[in-house]
Amino acid sequence: MKPKILILNGPNLNMLGQREPDVYGTESLGDIQIRCQERADTLDLDIDFRQSNHEGDLVEWIQEAGKSSAGGLILNAGAYTHTSIAILDALRAVDVPVIEVHLSNIHRREAYRSTSYISQASDGMICGFGGLGYELALDALANMLNSAK
Ligand code: DQA
Repeated sequence: MKPKILILNGPNLNMLGQREPDVYGTESLGDIQIRCQERADTLDLDIDFRQSNHEGDLVEWIQEAGKSSAGGLILNAGAYTHTSIAILDALRAVDVPVIEVHLSNIHRREAYRSTSYISQASDGMICGFGGLGYELALDALANMLNSAK
């Protein structure tokens, strides 16, 4: 069976393409999902791609990843990155490799975006590469899964 990777997207990421294109680019979240599916096919991974504007959904999906022993988690928590101890706690409660992704380079923006609670529970973070970051995260997880074999 192929390892399953859960790809979770937080608030306002459903607006990609229309939302601040100078910061986030013109790709929609649907375009990014297609990129991920194509990369996952090459890497022989299954993906489950989701988005929610609600913090509790993200917490529940992270718990679900733990219960179903997912092969990995890719998380762009949007603005919850900088505020959510609940999401940090959820990540700490599961034994699943986590890669944090941001489309923009959060360290080159407003100072409040430089702090990430998510980073304290993630294996690595990719930011500043737009939609490509999700593909790089899949590459990283595939590598981690192969070296764990
Ligand atoms: C983001 C960066 C966050 O600061 C912001 O709130 C987002 C998107 C990114 O992908 O660059 O919603 O996570």
